[in-house]
Amino acid sequence: MRRTMRIILIPLFLLLFATGFSTGQPGDGKNLYEYHCSRCHGTDGTRGMFGAKNLQKSLLPDAAITIQIRNGKRIMPSFKKKFTPNQINEVSAYIKTLRKPAI
Ligand code: HEC
Repeated sequence: MRRTMRIILIPLFLLLFATGFSTGQPGDGKNLYEYHCSRCHGTDGTRGMFGAKNLQKSLLPDAAITIQIRNGKRIMPSFKKKFTPNQINEVSAYIKTLRKPAI
């Protein structure tokens, strides 16, 4: 009986955790990007501070962008403690709009 409860409750908590923190406003990705990322990448993605990659030229697929934001790479810090999974999705959706031509 306790085992069954745990099997039901754990996914429920995970679901709440994953969705609960998000503010869900459109444009959040842009705000998050400008606050946390533009100091290295620039508001248009081309600043290149500390060797930051040009995001207009980046071809990384979604999964790789998510990993990079979560884990960081070299000078780029990890954002997994700062962002919820949903915020990571919003930021990665936003940085793809910086690409030229947009993909
Ligand atoms: C302290 C500077 C810094 C900050 C802040 C920063 N980055 Fe980066 N970013 C880098 C550097 C340096 C690289 C290149 C890493 C490498 O491959 O050597 C990079 C690479 C990337 C790449 C990979 C591009 C490619 O094609 O390989 C993505 C995507 C990216 N950053 C997104 C972000 C996002 C989104 C944020 C904000 C949440 C962010 N970065 C914040 C420095 C930064």
